[in-house]
Amino acid sequence: MSTVITHIGELHTQDPARGADAVLHDAAVIIEGERIAWLGSSTQAPDADEQFDAGGRAVLPGWVDSHSHMVFAGDRTAEFEARMAGQSYQAGGIAVTTGATREASDYELTRLLLARVAEAAAGGTTYLETKTGYGLDVEQEARSARIASTVVDEVTYLGAHLVPDGIDADAYTDLVCGDMLAAVRPYVQWADVFCERGAFNEEQSRRVLTACRDAGLGLRVHGNQLGEGPGVRLAVEFGAASVDHVNYLSDDDVASLAGTWTGWDRASGTGERGTVATCLPACDLSTRQPLAPGRQLLDAGAEIALASNCNPGTSFTSSMNFCVTTAVLQMGLSVQEAVRAATYGGALALGRHVGRDADGQRAVGSIAVGHRADLHLLNAPSATHLAYRPGMPLTAAVWRAGVSLA
Ligand code: NIG
Repeated sequence: MSTVITHIGELHTQDPARGADAVLHDAAVIIEGERIAWLGSSTQAPDADEQFDAGGRAVLPGWVDSHSHMVFAGDRTAEFEARMAGQSYQAGGIAVTTGATREASDYELTRLLLARVAEAAAGGTTYLETKTGYGLDVEQEARSARIASTVVDEVTYLGAHLVPDGIDADAYTDLVCGDMLAAVRPYVQWADVFCERGAFNEEQSRRVLTACRDAGLGLRVHGNQLGEGPGVRLAVEFGAASVDHVNYLSDDDVASLAGTWTGWDRASGTGERGTVATCLPACDLSTRQPLAPGRQLLDAGAEIALASNCNPGTSFTSSMNFCVTTAVLQMGLSVQEAVRAATYGGALALGRHVGRDADGQRAVGSIAVGHRADLHLLNAPSATHLAYRPGMPLTAAVWRAGVSLA
């Protein structure tokens, strides 16, 4: 089965191999099964089984949301209200969600996760990572990982999210590195640690990263969210795929993140990749933290991603449109840079910017022949409208792996 999408006013391929021609005008794309089979000028588009007329509107790769915490039950509206009244964010709120999550049945937790993923997809998200981290014991973390693995594209083990009450922090870290890791291992591709004052210190974080790396997991770090600290340094030292939050960066942090990309050619997307700095603007607004310095990171030569951080405490939204809007209006990114960070950048952070022959996984986050057919049609003639018309319902249609979702 093939579909040709014609009369695309602006086609943002985000394909580095296209260089200066990464945005096509009056373009067409052919989807065949789950893959992109052709792209080029609308006037030269070959026939397909079905035709869809984009009517001059813009098409982007589907959003790649590389940071979320969607496996949870319960509500933290009261904590949000207190924050808006002036209280600062306390990571301890994680314990409230852990309590509610432990009480939810498998059925309820799965239902809630499916609803959140559907909401994200309706907003243009076609590739999604989510984390454990609201179970915080062996059985509950394994349950969260198992449920997540049946629903989302990539699962990250975040047993090291908070030390539960009544347990010694070092003893809990041993558990995270031992029995808990063994229990989640069949369901996850990545591991993460909340390296922050009030969560896991440098030595504990180092132990978690070492054990998870030795277990064959890719690494990511929650770092420098609430103050300067060792998160970025550890992520760089361990060669983590991403360090996320990055609100409080020293000049050395920025330079060392940029330094991980010296063997990488940003223009062509080739060479040795480094550690992506993942900015989470919806979380920064909801916690009243300074916005992550995306502009400074890009200017220094680092690669950045934009992600939703959808979770009940600090960012109860999966809207990547909102993240892109905010990145342009408040972080100083151009529309092109923000769209790239929310598509190709997210794919880089998950190592999915290229396909994997081993398991037949297709590349995501960019539009090129052979890549997964993940497309986001805007109800607008250009991507600029995402920032020009903030908050407007600009997602007109979404295809995920070639399947039309709306
Ligand atoms: O990424 N920072 C740690 N974890 C989440 C917040 C979790 C919560 O407060 O429930 C975050 O912001």
